[in-house]
Amino acid sequence: MEIRKRFRRTPASAAAAEYHPSTLLRDWGAGQGFRIGDALTGVCVFGATGSGKTSGPAMHIALGYLAAGFGFLVLTSKKEECRQWVEWARLTGRLDDLVIFGPDSGLCFNFLNAEATRAGGGGGITLNIVATLMECLSAIAVDSAKSEGGGDNKWFEDATRNMLENLIDLPTFAGIPITLQLLRSIVSTAPQTPKEAHSAEWREGSVCAAILGEAEGKAREAGDAAFADFEECQRYWLKDFPALSEKTRSIIVLSFAMLVRPFITRPLAQLFSQPVSNVSPEDCCAGKIVIVDLPVQEYHLAGRLANLAWKYCFQRAVLRREPPSEPGTYLRPVVLWADEAQNFVTKFDAEYQAVARSAGGCTVYLTQNRESYRRVLGDDDAVDSLLGNLQAKFFCQNSSTGTNGWASALFGERWVELMTRTGGATGVGIGASDGRVTSNAGFSTVHQRRHFIEAAQFAMLRRGGERNGYLVDAYVYNGGERYAGTDGKEEVPFKFLTFNQRS
Ligand SMILES: Nc1ncnc2c1ncn2[C@@H]1O[C@H](COP(=O)(O)OP(=O)(O)OP(=O)(O)O)[C@@H](O)[C@H]1O
Ligand SMILES: [Mg+2]
Repeated sequence: MEIRKRFRRTPASAAAAEYHPSTLLRDWGAGQGFRIGDALTGVCVFGATGSGKTSGPAMHIALGYLAAGFGFLVLTSKKEECRQWVEWARLTGRLDDLVIFGPDSGLCFNFLNAEATRAGGGGGITLNIVATLMECLSAIAVDSAKSEGGGDNKWFEDATRNMLENLIDLPTFAGIPITLQLLRSIVSTAPQTPKEAHSAEWREGSVCAAILGEAEGKAREAGDAAFADFEECQRYWLKDFPALSEKTRSIIVLSFAMLVRPFITRPLAQLFSQPVSNVSPEDCCAGKIVIVDLPVQEYHLAGRLANLAWKYCFQRAVLRREPPSEPGTYLRPVVLWADEAQNFVTKFDAEYQAVARSAGGCTVYLTQNRESYRRVLGDDDAVDSLLGNLQAKFFCQNSSTGTNGWASALFGERWVELMTRTGGATGVGIGASDGRVTSNAGFSTVHQRRHFIEAAQFAMLRRGGERNGYLVDAYVYNGGERYAGTDGKEEVPFKFLTFNQRS
């Protein structure tokens, strides 16, 4: 009851003027806090398993964003996340805005149709659909590259992209609606050898051949330029694809089959493959809280793909938003939220968050440590690029020396004055460790550079639960913003926060 009173709900229909960047979302006292402008520059949270990430900083931020009327896309890794968001929505009076995209929800988001029916058309449709499929495939590619011990991923990526472009083009030339089932049939009936491509038997029994025939007729009617484009596509399916080496073809066909299968079988089929969508990322932009309730923990690859498809389509929907033309008005902030974000992170995220701010896009990513992003993104540059675009960094208790050392370096150093003992070791006095002092014993002052927060201090933060009085400690670093230091004099580039899990 008390919590409910603390959050003044902004209705989903709130005027754009409400979202001024200086609006305070969470008050940290002494004129400090977390504002809409901070939300727009992205948030990441680090902490060991059970360190209090979710019940500490994440809940603190989520309640602030919810109470302010932000729209959300919530990706899920764990089963309990949906229930937890329902509770957070209840606390902030946002239950009416919840859209739980899960099995038996009666909801459908057909992202292929959404792209195909969007204004603009032409080659843009192919590029957009290919980009979405490639983004989903990148998750599978990392897994298979790991199991195959690496390999020339870039080459396979290019070969896959080339196949997908020609694959989406084919029904487009034929004027047939694009569905994943149809795309799968084209690939599985494409010619396997140059000889087969010219055989009457293949032409008679192949979906690929039938659609090539239809596309040829339509392209001829459409004029020379369209026919020249069609010939490129035809050349791919009749010459280039059958001429690929057996190994290359089987890898790209297998990756495609792995990508498509979950979307056209239960439980994703009803959610993604119905002809008409009744929910889309645009709903998030309008203030809905869409929860992709297909957690990776329960649905494994299917869950991951479903979350990734939503994520990428959401990011592109945000980037398409037009800023309000009236001066002094602002877009409703819309949040991409992912706990256990290592399940969903891709290289596009850094690119997205770098430009999302002006489109009202806020990202909140939680994970254990830097290494969990490095494992997925492949190298430190990619991790730095992502984290450089998630400006506010919350650090909960952690035993990862890599992450603790990085956080310590990020917070920086200052000069400290140290007293050191000099001189001999006989006699009695305070200068000697054994209580004795000599006539030449004494002290001198030295100045040294020391980290504001040593790496080891992150290992000792409180992790919530009964043992810690339900308190979770975290340090926050917000892109170099300065906060009052504990001595009241020196300003420091971080703030120490304590969250109560039960309020
Ligand atoms: N409302 C609560 N009241 C009491 N204890 C809680 C509450 N919420 C979480 N806890 C406990 O506090 C500790 C930290 O929980 P929390 O789930 O926030 O950590 P986490 O860092 O998100 O963990 P994980 O990596 O598993 O997601 C856990 O031991 C958990 O059981
Ligand atoms: Mg958690």
